[in-house]
Formats: sequence, structure tokens, C-alpha cells
Amino acid sequence: NWTIENFIEMEAENIRTKVGERKVLCALSGGVDSSVVAALIDKAIGEQLTCIFVDHGLLRKNEADEVTKTFQDDFNMNFIKIDASDRFLSKLEGVDDPEQKRKIIGNEFIYVFDDEADKLKDIDFLAQGTLYTDVIESGTDTAQTIKSHHNVGGLPEDMQFELIEPLNTLFKDEVRELGVQLGLPESIVRRQPFPGPGLAIRVLGEITEEKLAIVRESDAILREEIAAAGLERDIWQYFTVLPDIRSVGVMGDARTYDYTIGIRAVTSVDGMTSDWARIPWDVLEKISTRLVNDVAHINRVVYDITSKPPATIEWE
Ligand code: XMP
Repeated sequence: NWTIENFIEMEAENIRTKVGERKVLCALSGGVDSSVVAALIDKAIGEQLTCIFVDHGLLRKNEADEVTKTFQDDFNMNFIKIDASDRFLSKLEGVDDPEQKRKIIGNEFIYVFDDEADKLKDIDFLAQGTLYTDVIESGTDTAQTIKSHHNVGGLPEDMQFELIEPLNTLFKDEVRELGVQLGLPESIVRRQPFPGPGLAIRVLGEITEEKLAIVRESDAILREEIAAAGLERDIWQYFTVLPDIRSVGVMGDARTYDYTIGIRAVTSVDGMTSDWARIPWDVLEKISTRLVNDVAHINRVVYDITSKPPATIEWE
């Protein structure tokens, strides 16, 4: 009979047989899939696994630290963190087109990962968090690309590795259960979807450090208040976006001319379609007050009430 415990034992044994004395590399994004793969392979072969985590500087507040703490400190893995924010941000300078941003980030990720993997010797295997649904989807033709969903973690085809994809018979909910059994924290296992290009596609138009800071801070506040209201499990994905708009406001008795921040919160099953979440008004009010008071350069808050379609979940 199929249980998660049996799966772990069987898969760990498969991995040990396949790998033998050799070494495995894993690209950790901090997302559910790559984290569970890393934890599973760590259980199977421990020291023979090395994880590379590329911080592109477009993650949410504290996210890089949490990933580092979990894998480096708690799991005690061979963990390499690359702080590549300067590299990514300078490549993105002056770029305002969403697809261009995705392309730059996807490519840069591969360069950074490649550089680092080259420094490691004698690696034969690359572990990837491919799920059963990814296997099915890659067999079908999508008629039209709305957005090129670059997964940070998608790697070049010419890399000389043999692939290990231990999750490719599992669905997302099984992967989460597996993560819990392997001792990963809730913050990783229950993580809401987060796009590979990260906050870059939530600062609309040209990215600056100041704008990134506004999205990062406002996103952290939104997440705190959604958690405080006990709504984390009811909303599929929630985040803030910074449109390139400034408007007039008044603070104390002074005129302000500052940014508008948008809140996006949706219910969905798979992200293909979505509805806007009916967050109670008193919760929205509290979020709005905090955003204006606690984040510099915000003087107006709007709530996105469009479904997908016709809108998409992300604004870019
Ligand atoms: P959209 O905006 O297309 O988003 O309605 C559907 C889901 O996909 C995520 N998303 C991305 N994920 N790379 C990713 O890995 C991307 O470029 C990307 N764009 C959107 C989005 O967050 C939502 O969960």
C-alpha cells in the first residue's frame, strides 16, 4: 500500500542505488518542489548532495535568510548561497518590458548557476523538482503564450548531468505532505506560489532599488495581516504590486505626491483561472492603514477586483 513513509524509504533506496558513491547537485529556489527534492535526497545520500541557492535580489522580505537557515543550519547540508543581486539588478537597469524582464532573469540565473557548478568537481547528477503535472503539461501544446513562465531552476540543455527527478510521479499536495514528513517548516511547505522572476514583475515598468523596497515592505505587511486574520489557507495567492503611478495626498497638514500600491489576492485551484478574494473590509482597512503609515512613499492603496480571465494574476 502506498503511503508517504513507504514512498520516502523506497525513493531513498532508489536514489542510493542510482547514485552510488557519486555526487548530486540541486538548484534550490526556496519553493516547495526544489526544497522537498533537496530534503529527500539529503535523507538518501547526505554529504554527497550539494545545493546551490541563487539569491537574485528579487525575493520577498527575509526569504533568503529563511532558506539559508533551514538548509544550512537546520538540515546542515552542503549549501552554497550566491548573492547575485547586483548582477541581476544591473542587467535589469532601464528595462520596462515584462517579457524582457523574464528573459533576462531566466538567462542570468543560468549563467550564475553554471559559473558556480563549474567550480564544483566530479558532479554527475542534477536533481530537479519536476512534478507529475509538469510531465503531463510538457507533452501538450499550448496554443498561445500569454507569459513565458520562466521557472528559476530551468537549466540549460547542454549541461552534462544525468537528471534525478524523484517527485515526477507526485501531485502538489503529495509533495507538501512529503515535505512535512521530511521535517521542512510550514513556511516552506505551505508557501503560496511565487513567480521565478520574483518582485521584478511586481514593480511595473522600470525597476529601481527604491521601488523594490516599497513592494518588499508592503508585501511583508500584507502577509502579516493576512496571517493575523487567519486567512492564509483561504487565499491562494496574495501580494502587492507597484504601478508606476503617483498621486496627490495629504499627511498631517502637508501635501504629498507619492506612490499608489495595489493589493492582489485571489482564490484559485491551479492558477489557470482565478477569482478575487473577498477579504473582509475591516481586514482591508487595517492593511491599508498600515501600508500608508509604515511604508515610506505610499499615500494611496487600491484593491484589484478583477478575475482571471480577463486579467491575469500578476500584473505583468
Ligand atoms: P498569471 O499572472 O499568468 O499567473 O495569471 C499564474 C501563476 O503563475 C505565476 N507566474 C509565474 N511563475 N514565472 C513563474 O515561475 C513567471 O514568469 C510567472 N508569471 C506568473 C503567478 O504568480 C501565478 O501563480
